[in-house]
Amino acid sequence: MKNVGQDIDIASKEIKEGKLVVFPTETVYGIGASAFNSEAVENIFKAKNRPADNPLIVHISNMEMLKDVAESVNDIERKIMEKFWPGPISIVLKKNKKVPDVVTANLDTVSVRMPDNSLALNLIEKAGPIAAPSANVSGKPSGTNIDDIYSELSPHVSYFIDGGNSNIGIESTVVKVDGGKVIILRPGYVTMEDLKSICKNVEIDKNCFNKVDENEKVLSPGMKHKHYAPNAKCVLLKYEDEGTLLKNIDNLVAKDKKVAFMFLDCVASKLKIKSNMVVFNLGKNLEDVARNIFKMLREIDVQNIDICYIQSFEKKGLGLGIMNRLIRVCDYNIIDIKEK
Ligand code: TXA
Ligand code: MG
Repeated sequence: MKNVGQDIDIASKEIKEGKLVVFPTETVYGIGASAFNSEAVENIFKAKNRPADNPLIVHISNMEMLKDVAESVNDIERKIMEKFWPGPISIVLKKNKKVPDVVTANLDTVSVRMPDNSLALNLIEKAGPIAAPSANVSGKPSGTNIDDIYSELSPHVSYFIDGGNSNIGIESTVVKVDGGKVIILRPGYVTMEDLKSICKNVEIDKNCFNKVDENEKVLSPGMKHKHYAPNAKCVLLKYEDEGTLLKNIDNLVAKDKKVAFMFLDCVASKLKIKSNMVVFNLGKNLEDVARNIFKMLREIDVQNIDICYIQSFEKKGLGLGIMNRLIRVCDYNIIDIKEK
């Protein structure tokens, strides 16, 4: 792999010259360009084959930078920043005119976050605000390490900053403050429960779990596009209890198909593996699931899986963000396993 390292001087020089740099954040990797260079930002859309109506997040490294990016900040927004930045939450704010329209897909708002990763913060400190979506071709799982994304992005990227595996593994929570209310546009590591410590009135945008038509006008355009999907057919498995699930696994294994199961360790470690069956162990808790899920979804394609059954999770805490990703991975296919 060429042009991979931890040289922030090289990376910031590339950004200043209008090139693209892949960099680590605590959530997932980003593919970034100077937020004020519209031509460079257009190249991000080309590199990802990203729909032009899906706006990018602008990453900053200090509060001074915020002034060049956003017009104003209200009390609740400031409290969210004070509590969670640097960290995995993006806040949709009124955009400063200095930010080119291509960054925000012509919206008059801009989503901003300060990532909690020293390589990212050093880069932004040197290069200025960076517009960056997740580092992956659109529709593919977000990149959580350089190996997974190098070949799909390297034709377009001048330098990759290698920060190892992403700590969190799923993308930031995206919120918008409307009146005295916080609306979660995309659930993530900062949970609804966390946000309620700042503002009593927190709600989740209905489109986080509904299928949205391509032509529909929505609060968060990212929710309507095909997302995170491997080539294999994926199905979400709901089940009442472990015993019932284990009894029914055999019925899901098909002779002429390569079938995968993706479960928490408590179930995965109990599955009896057959010849045309692969088991992915998501780990012991929701943090592990977040950290492993995108890498494992990519692995499904590497292993030419035909069908993958993924366990569902309770939609609370970090489970809400995980389920928002999984429902899209599975294109709303759900099987409910019940005791017969
Ligand atoms: O953790 C993350 O957020 C990562 C890292 C790299 O920071 N970035 C990321 O970016 O996931 P991306 O582009 O894959 O997702 C950004 C999401 C999309 O769903 C987009 O529609 C939404 O944020 N978004 C961005 N700007 C917005 C705006 N002005 N209004 C509403 N939604 C916005
Ligand atoms: Mg993305």
